[in-house]
Amino acid sequence: MVRNVCVLGATGMVGQRFIQLLSQIPDFNIVDIAASSKSAGKRYEDAVNWHQTTPIPDEIRDMKIVNTDPDEVSDDVDFVFASLPAGLAEPVEAAFAEKFIVASNASVNRMKENIPLVIPEVNPEHLEMMETQKDVNGWEGCIVTNPNCSTIALTLTLKPLFDKYTFKRVSVTTMQAVSGAGYNGVPSMGILDNIIPYIGGEEEKMQSETLHLLGKVNGGLVDKANFPLSASCNRVGVVDGHTESVSIEFEEDDVTVEDIKSAMSGFVGLPQKEKLSFAPEKPVIVRDEEDRPQPRMDRDSGHGMSVTVGRVREDVFENSFKYTLVGHNTIRGAAGASILNAQLISKLYL
Ligand SMILES: NC(=O)c1ccc[n+]([C@@H]2O[C@H](COP(=O)([O-])OP(=O)(O)OC[C@H]3O[C@@H](n4cnc5c(N)ncnc54)[C@H](OP(=O)(O)O)[C@@H]3O)[C@@H](O)[C@H]2O)c1
Repeated sequence: MVRNVCVLGATGMVGQRFIQLLSQIPDFNIVDIAASSKSAGKRYEDAVNWHQTTPIPDEIRDMKIVNTDPDEVSDDVDFVFASLPAGLAEPVEAAFAEKFIVASNASVNRMKENIPLVIPEVNPEHLEMMETQKDVNGWEGCIVTNPNCSTIALTLTLKPLFDKYTFKRVSVTTMQAVSGAGYNGVPSMGILDNIIPYIGGEEEKMQSETLHLLGKVNGGLVDKANFPLSASCNRVGVVDGHTESVSIEFEEDDVTVEDIKSAMSGFVGLPQKEKLSFAPEKPVIVRDEEDRPQPRMDRDSGHGMSVTVGRVREDVFENSFKYTLVGHNTIRGAAGASILNAQLISKLYL
């Protein structure tokens, strides 16, 4: 069934991805696009600084941008895809949730009671919180969030291992693309010939969101997974695609490199079982070449929805292994994540 959708923050880095991806998926029909008051009233093409490699979709080019106000959005919208600045998201998403299902990319609502934070392959059962959220707030709609971009890629690779083994500790060091900070986020003079060893709030988000995603719903709250997780986050001069070096110490003493590779490459979740059109065939692709994954070569795997893992090897510490992953931050890590959440909700809940 075709769902009518609206995109908030439609001119931004993630908003542009929404426009690009949604216009390629027949299940969704973009009926409204919204941005700030400086863009409202303009044709999309006149307001946007378009940075995608494909042209602005024909059906969107002339569409008029509306204000970010639920009363300016058609009543027959089924999903609102939100990619708003963090400071705005809390009140704006709540206002839209009174009428609509909001698929949100912002961090502010991710850890709240009754609001599901979901990667469809990892914890689709957390969507059960949608109904309580509607009841508690008296809303017709609700808010469903997807995690931070670096967390999504990491958690997709941890899930198949977490289901089989016990982690003693996990540490991750990220090398994150500049598009993760939005178009105006990192000045070129700051990032060219440089690495910035700080992304505000990112390490805390990775540490808390990953444990939340691997946890179990208990009423409107989540009992988080319980293992030490340490993240170090860096911004590097790559346009798209986050790279992460992961190290895991297992409680078990008999895990092998082949066990890890086969758990990851055989991993499928509900989107694959339900044959959702935007689900990649393989959420995690394992490569054996010694110099892969690389952001430029691997970020578009599975139309940007697969995470590519390579260099799976033993670490020098006892019962420890390490690997490198690459995930597309604005597709699997943002717009594509919300779209897959919406496809799953559309199929199983509407
Ligand atoms: N980039 C990523 O990889 C990524 C990944 C995961 C999550 N996120 C999250 O997604 C959100 C958006 O990120 P982004 O990178 O797309 O940011 P961005 O490129 O800076 O875009 C911001 C968008 O918000 C709109 N906006 C700004 N002020 C507004 C206002 N007062 N009222 C209504 N709309 C307003 C802008 O419209 P105008 O053009 O009219 O100003 C623009 O469409 C953030 O919360 C970010 O943390 C981003």
